[in-house]
Amino acid sequence: MKSNRLFFYFSLYRRKFVIIFLFQELMIILSLINPYITKLILDRAYPDKNLRLFISYIFSIGFVFLFMGLIRFFLNRITQNLKASIDFKLSNDLFKHLQNLDLNFYQKKSTGQYLYHFNNDIKLYVDFMVEVPIKLITLILNLIFIILIIFKINSKIGIFCLFLFPINYILNNFFKNVLNHTRRQQINILQEINKYICDIFNNFKLIKTFRKEEYEINRFINYLREKIKNQLKNDKIIRLFELLSSSINKILFGSIIFYGGYKISKKEFSLGNLSAIGMYLGQLFSIINQLNDLYKTFTLREIIVSRLEDIFKIKSSLYKANQSEYFIKEGKIEFKNVSFGYNGNLVFNNISFSLTSKRIGIVGKSGSGKTTLLFLILRLYQPEKGEILIDDININKISEDSFKKDVAIALEEPLLFNDTIANNIFYGLEEYRTEDRLLWAAKIAKVDDFASKLKDKYNTNLGQGGIKLSKGQRQRISIARALIKRPRILLLDEATSSLDSDTEKNIIENLKKELKYTNIILVSHRFSAIKEMEEILFLEDKDKIIKGKHKELLENYLPYQKFFYEQRIS
Ligand SMILES: Nc1ncnc2c1ncn2[C@@H]1O[C@H](COP(=O)(O)OP(=O)(O)OP(=O)(O)O)[C@@H](O)[C@H]1O
Ligand SMILES: [Mg+2]
Repeated sequence: MKSNRLFFYFSLYRRKFVIIFLFQELMIILSLINPYITKLILDRAYPDKNLRLFISYIFSIGFVFLFMGLIRFFLNRITQNLKASIDFKLSNDLFKHLQNLDLNFYQKKSTGQYLYHFNNDIKLYVDFMVEVPIKLITLILNLIFIILIIFKINSKIGIFCLFLFPINYILNNFFKNVLNHTRRQQINILQEINKYICDIFNNFKLIKTFRKEEYEINRFINYLREKIKNQLKNDKIIRLFELLSSSINKILFGSIIFYGGYKISKKEFSLGNLSAIGMYLGQLFSIINQLNDLYKTFTLREIIVSRLEDIFKIKSSLYKANQSEYFIKEGKIEFKNVSFGYNGNLVFNNISFSLTSKRIGIVGKSGSGKTTLLFLILRLYQPEKGEILIDDININKISEDSFKKDVAIALEEPLLFNDTIANNIFYGLEEYRTEDRLLWAAKIAKVDDFASKLKDKYNTNLGQGGIKLSKGQRQRISIARALIKRPRILLLDEATSSLDSDTEKNIIENLKKELKYTNIILVSHRFSAIKEMEEILFLEDKDKIIKGKHKELLENYLPYQKFFYEQRIS
């Protein structure tokens, strides 16, 4: 598993890692002392009936336990602290990374999958990072110490102990593949469930209107069944593994004790030695169990670490180098031999046009690429060929901040946060969030018509996705949010489609009046709004885009005429 990120975090928090490691080592050394003191009690203090020696040994054991308790306390504190730091950094990095990816990425994954990454993967990643390496090193060192001590007490028993490793290794390997498979399945199922739940809560209106509650309950039960079936299968394998390994290890332990007892009866071995070996063996088996657990964790977390790493590896396809601040002046938009498509299906094939008017209308059949065209101007997608220019500057050279200041869009589907009307409108504005500005935007977009009548006015909470408003009202908020920053270019993508013609006309007139210096690009199916625009862009085909005034096109261009009358009839 190659992971630069893991190493990056290691080096970032290396001091804490080293401190934890040293504390762990100290714990190990301390844990090796008490069996030895027990041996001394049995071999020295007990046969000599030396009470002072006995008491001092007992006190030493007590002192070691106390000291270990204290160290454990600090160790846990530092470990939790380290985990919290990595969790914070990793969550932050992941969020930042996801925010910077382009639209294409978001269209491939569902909300549920992101939730899963944030809720589960990060925690597992952090646990993996902090626990596995430190535990692995300390356990191995501990193991070496114990084996050396056992060897020192009795070399035959020491050799016997060495058999434990190949046996456990074979067992682990045998179970590894089966376990990995069921675990992968388990993660996939959990992710599917998350995805499903998010989908359900996002589409609850659909479920209610189609009376699909019963159907969805059954779908959910099926998911749960699958999850539990897999969980039990996974558990069965783990328990079987535990049963086998602990039985084998216990048989070995029993044989060693039996051998020690035999040696005592022959007076070749002291009781103290046997008791110390018994205690060290206890520790040895506990280490082997922990190593087995670690191995299981390792195989599972490897899946999680690589999943997160895979997300970090995704790069934004958008061009971000050599950009600089630019304040849009004329707002002239030009497409030069642009080709663009989704997954190989071209929407535009080598198209060129230039838009110089302040008021532009875009028309074309559904699916002809109107939204795509706006998204290309917004630089949410990158053309496959050709270039897009604003004021004769390639838009790739304009900084994100300039785009943020100067270009705004209102979409047909008004996307709103579960927040107040005011905050939803202010979302479009970075600074100068004054009430005057809010009212100014709200009046232009005719939000004020309904907001001023609400009990809490602009502080009314809109509920999830703006559920408490009609679609036309939500569209008006979405327009206010786009215009509040007085952009130099305002894109309206069927943003008034749910409004009655009068309100639509009113808003467009307001926009023209109040945003004199803004270039407005209006996508609409309604010719009542379009024909008022100075210049029309007609998306006839993927390689044919026609520009002209509405009247001229209607008189002289047959396909436009046809399109116009079809729209009017429908
Ligand atoms: N994210 C996407 N992935 C794949 N194909 C897409 C994607 N978005 C749009 N398309 C396809 O690109 C074409 C143009 O879509 P676009 O949304 O730009 O059309 P439109 O003119 O805005 O249509 P409408 O009038 O219905 O809003 C369509 O054929 C559509 O299926
Ligand atoms: Mg569209």
